[in-house]
Amino acid sequence: MNQKNSLGIDLCFQDLNNPIDLFGQWFNEAKKTEINDPNALSLATVGKNGIPSVRMVLLKDFNSDGFVFYTNLNSRKSEEIKSNANASMCFHWKSLLRQVRITGEISNVSDTDADKYYNSRSYGSRIGAWASNQSSILKSRDELLKSIEEFKKKYPNENNVPRPKHWSGWNLTPHEIEFWLDGKNRIHERLRYTKKNNNDWEKNLLNP
Ligand SMILES: Cc1cc2nc3c(=O)[nH]c(=O)nc-3n(C[C@H](O)[C@H](O)[C@H](O)COP(=O)(O)O)c2cc1C
Repeated sequence: MNQKNSLGIDLCFQDLNNPIDLFGQWFNEAKKTEINDPNALSLATVGKNGIPSVRMVLLKDFNSDGFVFYTNLNSRKSEEIKSNANASMCFHWKSLLRQVRITGEISNVSDTDADKYYNSRSYGSRIGAWASNQSSILKSRDELLKSIEEFKKKYPNENNVPRPKHWSGWNLTPHEIEFWLDGKNRIHERLRYTKKNNNDWEKNLLNP
């Protein structure tokens, strides 16, 4: 057993029937040990053509309803989500030698939640949400810089930048969450929670 994970699977896992609670415990540890972005995760989506794509995003909220990130609703990831709501997330906390994989279905966050988060962002980030047509082809960097200046002129008051309709959050409601702990000689530990029809979670250990 790796020293960092010396609590082991029995003490760490077995008495927790809710993977959201366990995720919360691991995430809190990661916040203390990761050098940056403990909330960074890779998000995999699948396009209409069946080809997967993956990229990093930042987790901005999580609870029993799901795992939330924010983005441009016209971006590649969002177009893929609109055509296929199935998606997968993966966290890797290097400092803890741990991984969490989450699979589920994605739906929109409420406008109220999106407004709240949008308004908590810096002025520059809020202007950026207007100026960048995320994932579309950019002729030159200048084109983007000009667009930023134009939106700064349009919204000079830092306290009054409305949220663009094309910028919001997505919530992944999990039906499977797997926790992975690094082990000696690659004898890792894996525990998978799967949601049952009655909404209880079933737990299974997996071979490493
Ligand atoms: C650590 C990290 C965090 C990121 N967080 C976000 C994010 O929360 N939202 C977002 O739209 N893009 C984020 N990005 C940029 C995305 O990885 C990606 O380049 C962008 O969203 C466009 O992806 P798409 O073309 O697949 O839609 C992040 C990148 C990194 C490296």
